[in-house]
Amino acid sequence: GKKPIVMSGIRPTGYLHLGNYFGAIRNYVRMQDEFECFFMVADLHSLTTHPDTKELKANVHRVLAENIACGLNPDKAAFYCQSHIYETSELYLYLNMLAYKGELEKTVTFKDKVRQQPDNVNAGLLTYPVLQAADIILHRASLVPVGKDQEQHLEMARNFVNRFNHRYGDVFPEPQAFNYNVQLVKVPSLDGSGKMSKSENQMATLYLADSDDMIRKKVMKAKTDNGPTETNSSKPDYIENMFLLMGLVSEQEVIDKFESDYNNCNIRYGDMKKQLAEDMVKFIAPIREKVEGILGNESYLRQIMETGAEKARQSAKATMEVVRQSMGL
Ligand code: ADP
Ligand code: NA
Repeated sequence: GKKPIVMSGIRPTGYLHLGNYFGAIRNYVRMQDEFECFFMVADLHSLTTHPDTKELKANVHRVLAENIACGLNPDKAAFYCQSHIYETSELYLYLNMLAYKGELEKTVTFKDKVRQQPDNVNAGLLTYPVLQAADIILHRASLVPVGKDQEQHLEMARNFVNRFNHRYGDVFPEPQAFNYNVQLVKVPSLDGSGKMSKSENQMATLYLADSDDMIRKKVMKAKTDNGPTETNSSKPDYIENMFLLMGLVSEQEVIDKFESDYNNCNIRYGDMKKQLAEDMVKFIAPIREKVEGILGNESYLRQIMETGAEKARQSAKATMEVVRQSMGL
């Protein structure tokens, strides 16, 4: 039968870090064989917070190049730019009639944005969840890989779908949160302060665009101490985190050796960090070089987006015909 449809939005902010790779992209790579995947670069969404569009195209290209370098395959999944599919804006308009001011004002992300940009509380910010719902249901997608912070938006999308279906007939499936690999890894930051993130301490976040020297510098700065004084003692968080990072990129024998050194109280954190740094370089450098190669080939990027938009447009047109018909338009 037909493969289930997966829809995922990618923000054109670029500069992916190790957390994005192991926490999200790696799962998308696995999904693309089993599902019909749409990966949309959300350039319209960025207008709600970044009205200056000078750098938008470069950002779209970078995020595409980074995702492809990580293993997403434009021959399997459709990559497209949100603004290239006009049907999105049309569906957004219809869904706005089914979304209520009160519920939109209560959205956590809206309240956050009001605090962050009090001088630009535009209606686009308020209706962000409506546009997001339009993105998802435009392809009648049933599966949406989302993080915890997006669950409220998905819940709202389900509400809009139910209202639409109730009023105009069964057109849309209810979109569900979906993660291929149930146990999503959380990648810790290098300073022992929680998860790696682009908004936190830059020196504690490893970017896929970091140079070899920058990777080494960041890893060597990771927080350590004088080492354990009792055999087989439990590890402080920042040491546990270093082992977790090693678990992502190092060979099992190497990890076992440092584990056993730790348990025997003769671990040398300097050596461990050097090993981790080299293994990180070995992991990140080929991705970084691939990204640079892809970015240097603008016609390839344009062609990917054109092919993706073609596929997305076909699916969007089919949906919108049913939508207009059921609404009597
Ligand atoms: P950031 O937190 O750096 O702003 P985003 O919020 O844009 O990253 O997240 C994009 C995707 O990457 C989400 O699916 C999110 O769950 C995942 N992700 C981000 N940081 C991590 C991390 N440290 N560990 C695991 N997954 C992460
Ligand atoms: Na985040």
